[in-house]
Amino acid sequence: MKWRLAVSVAVSMALSPALAETQSPFGHHPLTPQARDAFVSSLLTKMTNDEKIGQLRLISVGPDNPKEAIREMIKEGQVGAIFNTVTRKDIRAMQDQVMALSRLKIPLFFAYDVVHGQRTIFPINLGLASTFNLDSARVVGEVSAREAADDGLNMTWAPMVDVSRDPRWGRVSEGFGEDTYLTAIMGRTLVESMQGKSPADRYSLMTSVKHFAAYGAVEGGKEYNTVDMSPQRLFNDYMPPYKAALDAGSGGVMVALNSVNGTPSTADSWLLKDLLRDQWGFKGITISDHGAIKELIKHGVASDPKDAVRVAINAGINMSMSDEYYSKYLPELLKSGAVSQQELDDATRHVLNVKYDMGLFNDPYSHLGPKESDPADTNAESRLHRDAARQVARESLVLLKNRLNTLPLSKSGTIAVVGPLADSKRDIMGSWSAAGVADQSVTVLQGIKNVVGDKATVHYAKGANVTDDKGAVAFLNEYEPAVTLDKRSPQAMLDDAVKTASQSDVIVAVVGESQGMAHEASSRTDISIPASQQALLAALKKTGKPLVVVLMNGRPLTLVKEDQLADALLETWFAGTEGGNAIADVLFGDDNPSGKLPMSFPRSVGQIPVYYSHLNTGRPYNADKPDKYTSRYFDEVNAPLYPFGYGLSYTTFSVSPVTMSAPTMDKKGQVTASVTVTNTGKRQGATAVQLYLQDVTASMSRPVKMLRGFRKVNLKPGQSTTVNFPIDVHALTFWNARMQQVAEPGKFNVFIGLDSARVQ
Ligand code: BGC
Repeated sequence: MKWRLAVSVAVSMALSPALAETQSPFGHHPLTPQARDAFVSSLLTKMTNDEKIGQLRLISVGPDNPKEAIREMIKEGQVGAIFNTVTRKDIRAMQDQVMALSRLKIPLFFAYDVVHGQRTIFPINLGLASTFNLDSARVVGEVSAREAADDGLNMTWAPMVDVSRDPRWGRVSEGFGEDTYLTAIMGRTLVESMQGKSPADRYSLMTSVKHFAAYGAVEGGKEYNTVDMSPQRLFNDYMPPYKAALDAGSGGVMVALNSVNGTPSTADSWLLKDLLRDQWGFKGITISDHGAIKELIKHGVASDPKDAVRVAINAGINMSMSDEYYSKYLPELLKSGAVSQQELDDATRHVLNVKYDMGLFNDPYSHLGPKESDPADTNAESRLHRDAARQVARESLVLLKNRLNTLPLSKSGTIAVVGPLADSKRDIMGSWSAAGVADQSVTVLQGIKNVVGDKATVHYAKGANVTDDKGAVAFLNEYEPAVTLDKRSPQAMLDDAVKTASQSDVIVAVVGESQGMAHEASSRTDISIPASQQALLAALKKTGKPLVVVLMNGRPLTLVKEDQLADALLETWFAGTEGGNAIADVLFGDDNPSGKLPMSFPRSVGQIPVYYSHLNTGRPYNADKPDKYTSRYFDEVNAPLYPFGYGLSYTTFSVSPVTMSAPTMDKKGQVTASVTVTNTGKRQGATAVQLYLQDVTASMSRPVKMLRGFRKVNLKPGQSTTVNFPIDVHALTFWNARMQQVAEPGKFNVFIGLDSARVQ
């Protein structure tokens, strides 16, 4: 199961150190914290306050800030960093302007939302989490950093590690799901693999973990909404992933737009100073999210724009994203003493520190290389890493149902490929698809054609619009043309699809959400497949042909009806540039699915929040002995439709009872929990073996299960392997009622299984 990225060297060359030295107006300095502090302290003494304020400004290139306006700002030292510029040519031009026009020649850094790939688009992060494979995360991190650095970028607004237990929130697509441990370990791996040994290296990228804090817990799953939770829940469930990313060395933190317990994160000096800096020892840079400083007025914690700047900088926001407020109001605030010189110097120091860590003072062109090495075609096919994308995408697919081994399909006969998402190049890339080019992505229809070749006949019918809801279409198309309505009537499309299906041996229906439906600003109250596509599935079912439903979506959906209708159900999320090929590999058995769900799939919206690591309550519901006065709904079962960690394979596995290396462990000790996993089926296959712990009796209620380890094993038919999980005190600690981090002696249950519900 271990595989590594084959690194292509074709694209560009690093500057030789000698050349770099001659190009830098600052000479060459060792990349150590001591040298950095001395360098930055000395530079600060040379800067005017206006130049310092300039360093705090992060601007997006676009209609509001055209390149000519930016040139002026650069000349006057009024800008510290740029985002949304993604070619070496444009980036080089701006850095040239800094060197030629500005007084101090402090290099700009360049950032972008490299969330799941830069040019090659990998599965969305919910899909990456489904791999339950850190090697996959490492490949995504390395390739993303390589491609982004090769475009001249220095920083990414990633990883996004907002734990979320509410699939109504559109941004669950960007994160790693409901589980604290899985999110933390995926986030940590991405930071390590993107930053590499040093963010100054030619193909490394500095990360900026987001959105600090707890953005994934917005009330009702409604975008930008309030977050309110106990400190225990905040620290036990929501904070660990940010902490893990920072412990891995993330150079940046993007601050959340939401408030937590009444204080907007952008205004929260406890969060950004006491916790982040003083307790966690963070040395990097804090960046406000888009426009967040002016939003403090609407939050009701600042009276006007100047006041918002006072609140934000005093709270610990170093760099201001996409507003001119710092530049406009900081001079007056300094004069009046509402913001101290120390506060300005600290914020500036943090910005200069990360530039130093990025190696920009040694070589402002460190991620650009010599001009002659710029690619003639930024979108050249040779710049993509398709093999890596196909492999990660294969591993991200989750088989939810496979009645009578409907899958894998045989490469013969006639196959009807149906559905509005079957041939959509844009949708398969998902949200935040960076500099990915839709035209370079492989749709499911194309992938199936590629994989079956001339062995089978493939017919296609769109069958339905993604949605016929005019209000939804208008919303999705508000900023860009994203969803189109077919010229034909819904009935004509349906009839065409039914005809195509009737003439085929099997139907592959590709349905779900368009990419814009699972994005920032795309919360839903109804998380079912849109009505137009439900009607399509019902009509296809009536043909009596085997119905394979391929789901494309960025959140758990309510799928009770589809689960009944479909003979096979494959969750593919948004699988990226090579998605269509990977999906076809799995549909036709060239690859055996091994993905597992990183979020529970509710039966209905009324069940939300439904997550596996809940507390037991004093009256837990027992499905074997149902009782009225227990914690339940009377019109719905308690369990989700598909639990966290769930996913089938074309083969079957057995798991032996758990054995422990010792029955007890002391605080400094370690025990090992082991099982033997056997492939009891007829095909080679992989599965993620999962370790869950329960603190049975503690000073406060602890979850019924907590994921504390997983291992992906790949076995031939009949083959067995022993899987060992070491457990030490770290797996048992929690924040108690007095907000002390403790591990309490007592009894712990150890469960191992292939999903969170079926454990030994
Ligand atoms: C999002 C961030 C993103 C930023 C820059 C904001 O709207 O909340 O996640 O990094 O835009 O694109």
